[in-house]
This record gives sequence, C-alpha cells and structure tokens, in this order.
Amino acid sequence: MLLTLREAYNQFKIESPSGEYIPLHSHTSKEQGLFLQNILEEIRPQRSLEVGLAYGISTLFILEKHREFENKTKSHIVIEPFSWGGVAEHNIEKEGLAEYVEIRYQRSDEVLPRLYFDNIRIQFAYIDTTKVFDTVLQDFYFIDKILDVGGVVVLDDCNGKWPGVQRVARFINVLPHYKLMAAHNKSNLTLKKKLANLAISKFIKLIPFKDKIHPTSDFESDIDLGLDYNCLVFQKVSDDERKWDWDKPF
Ligand SMILES: C[S@@+](CC[C@H](N)C(=O)[O-])C[C@H]1O[C@@H](n2cnc3c(N)ncnc32)[C@H](O)[C@@H]1O
Repeated sequence: MLLTLREAYNQFKIESPSGEYIPLHSHTSKEQGLFLQNILEEIRPQRSLEVGLAYGISTLFILEKHREFENKTKSHIVIEPFSWGGVAEHNIEKEGLAEYVEIRYQRSDEVLPRLYFDNIRIQFAYIDTTKVFDTVLQDFYFIDKILDVGGVVVLDDCNGKWPGVQRVARFINVLPHYKLMAAHNKSNLTLKKKLANLAISKFIKLIPFKDKIHPTSDFESDIDLGLDYNCLVFQKVSDDERKWDWDKPF
C-alpha cells in the first residue's frame, strides 16, 4: 500500500499542500480500497473513471494499480466540481502518480456527456459521489454508454444507508446487460432484525394483486437480491440490446 495511504489510515489525517496534516473524512475505507484493487487486478482496465475525488483516497488506490499495469498517461479520469484544498493533487504528486490522472473540475453532468460525445472508452468506473438518486442515475447512464463489455461499474454507499444510491443499484441489478459480480462489506443485522426482515419479505410476497397495484415496485428485499452490501460491483456482460418497450420493476 502507498505510504500516504498507510499514514492516512494510521493517523486519520492527510497532508495538505502547506504541509499541515488535516483530519480525513468522507473517504473510502482501507478494506474497500483493497477490494477495489482486487477488482482492478481482475479487470485490468486500460482506462478508468471515478466520480468524486474529495481528498483522493480511492484515487490513490486506483492510480497505484495503473502504475503497476504500466498504463498510458491520463489513464484515470476523475470528476470533482468542488475544492478540497488541493489535498488530493498534493498527495498524488507526492506519490509520483500525477501522470496517470486527469482531473475534471466540473459536475458529473457536465463531464460525462462530453466523454460520451468524445468516444472515450473505459473498463472500470467507481461512483462515490452525491447521494441524490437522479444525479447518480445519470452518472450510471453515461458510464454505461462509455463502458466496454466486460468492464465494471462499482457503486459505493449502497446497502440502503443512502436510498437514492440503493435505488440505482436495484435498477442496474435488473438490467439484462449487467450482472452482480462482487460485493464488499455486508450489512451486519442483528438476529432480531434479520428475522423481522425475513417475516416481512415473506408476508409481502403473499399479498394478492400487489404487482397490479404497484407495477413499478419489485417486492424482493435487498437481502433476497444480494444487494445488502456497502459496495457493489456490476459487470457489463453484453451491449444494451433492450427494445423500446423494455421495462422491469426494481
Ligand atoms: C464521498 S466523497 C468521495 C470520496 C473519495 N472517493 C475518497 O475515497 O476519498 C464524494 C465526493 O463527490 C463529490 N461530488 C458531489 N456531487 C458531485 C457531482 N455532481 N459530480 C461530481 N462529484 C460530485 C463531492 O464533492 C465529494 O468530493
């Protein structure tokens, strides 16, 4: 692991451009960062994308792999509209990884359509951004357009903690051209909660005409669907061949 990451996790602080160490927050955990690196090992992307830089913790995990794979310059695109004091840039530079990254300082809805327009292709995407449903959905929409078959899209903050993100995860899960490939950090429910969940799930399935009354809802629980994890990896298994009238509750 990079020295900057080891220090950051040991001290819960990260070095700013002035040399001062500031408290770390909103970052990807060490375990999840290592999980991302395992996925990167499996996929071996030549080009990747990330939405949400913040202090650049996940970016450092990803860039370390790009260097190891001896990928081209600017093989990782990161989108971040807000200023985080240049902390990520400082640490990327310090680790000698600046050549592998291109940071776009705009909102994802300003950058992603342009990448699609410019015919950029990627094989790995990590979405760790706002938790607003329609923003995350549009991120996925354009990522799907530029993601090669065999590539993956990784969603952070699932598991129902952020319903806006979970809805996007449930939507991707019903798409015929994606499959759930891997997951990290399963929800830790108490036995009481697990049993309540099971009972409610079974009860809902028994309600007659529920699909007629709520045709847009899928009544399977996140647990039943295997979506009760913080981080979900969906692999694109084919091109999008849905017809104009395709629909599925999620
Ligand atoms: C949880 S933090 C990302 C943490 C980072 N992945 C890490 O591990 O250090 C979420 C980031 O998404 C950014 N963000 C919020 N809305 C965004 C948008 N519309 N487009 C791109 N980034 C956005 C925030 O400014 C913030 O930096």
